[in-house]
Amino acid sequence: MFEMQDNEEFKLVIHRKKRTSFARKCCDSTVTLPVVVVDNDDDDDDDDEDNGSNFNINHETLSGMILEAEVELKNSSFADNVFYSLGDSLNALRLDGISEILCYGLGHFSSCRSSKYQLALLLSLKKYYNSRVYVYDPVFYSHEIELLKRFDCNVIEINEEGKRIVQDSVTLIYMPHCSIYLTNNFLYTNWSKRLNKCILLTNSFSIVTDNLTKANKSVSLDYVLRIRPYVTEIPLRNNFIYKDVFSDLNIHIFLEENINAIPQSFWNKRDEPCYRGAEIHYLTAKQTEQIDAKNCCTEDET
Ligand SMILES: C[S@@+](CC[C@H](N)C(=O)[O-])C[C@H]1O[C@@H](n2cnc3c(N)ncnc32)[C@H](O)[C@@H]1O
Repeated sequence: MFEMQDNEEFKLVIHRKKRTSFARKCCDSTVTLPVVVVDNDDDDDDDDEDNGSNFNINHETLSGMILEAEVELKNSSFADNVFYSLGDSLNALRLDGISEILCYGLGHFSSCRSSKYQLALLLSLKKYYNSRVYVYDPVFYSHEIELLKRFDCNVIEINEEGKRIVQDSVTLIYMPHCSIYLTNNFLYTNWSKRLNKCILLTNSFSIVTDNLTKANKSVSLDYVLRIRPYVTEIPLRNNFIYKDVFSDLNIHIFLEENINAIPQSFWNKRDEPCYRGAEIHYLTAKQTEQIDAKNCCTEDET
């Protein structure tokens, strides 16, 4: 099966498993990757122990490709915009660095151009701020997980549905093109004044909520809608060479003066989000478990 097309280098891939179809929908199919996922091994032996894709990967090639993307990104004026705006955000929050980065929903960076450059940005931020990184996407292939580990990122092992409690340290939450429902879950879980230590680099709250409100689909986005009046949204000029990679991503911060103006009762009302009937556009923990169980059975049969 071919993974990418157009005028760039090559591609390959075999033995896709069920979860990937979800991510493939998420990747822009019109886009190409200069990437290489190479199977060096013609025989079908069992040494390909792998829970995400049954083939050998040339890790050096993949790693080189990501590092190249990182250099390209770093030299872009888009990266200048991001670092400048993050610097401004930290100043406004009176904070002096980013201790942790929590990243959800990168997608298949070994085969999807957007994900590749999004990972490049993650790695640049990690280096610049010397941050600990936690990363999760339920569709990662095992070779992607391995590479993330090599890049000294902590790969979260369970589907938290965005509900990770951040520590009392400055955290950047990076969710490029993720479901707004995951953001809603994150806000619910961390629903307190301590949100002012969080910086969200996510799809623009204003664009997403306005669109959903117009479509009458915002009912279950309680936490996003309630916090919205207190959020300062810092637009990121999207001048990266590939427009789809960072489209509609903005920085969101919670300034102390805004957060302090909120009465305590606002934070006390905190029911677990319930999305019955909504199109949530993320994989739930239950779905992930079912897919993993199915993959396990398929592996046993082969
Ligand atoms: C619209 S795609 C975006 C992919 C990539 N960031 C991009 O811009 O092309 C959404 C991503 O969210 C991931 N995702 C789905 N459920 C998730 C969950 N529970 N936790 C974290 N990521 C999730 C999907 O696997 C997918 O990679």
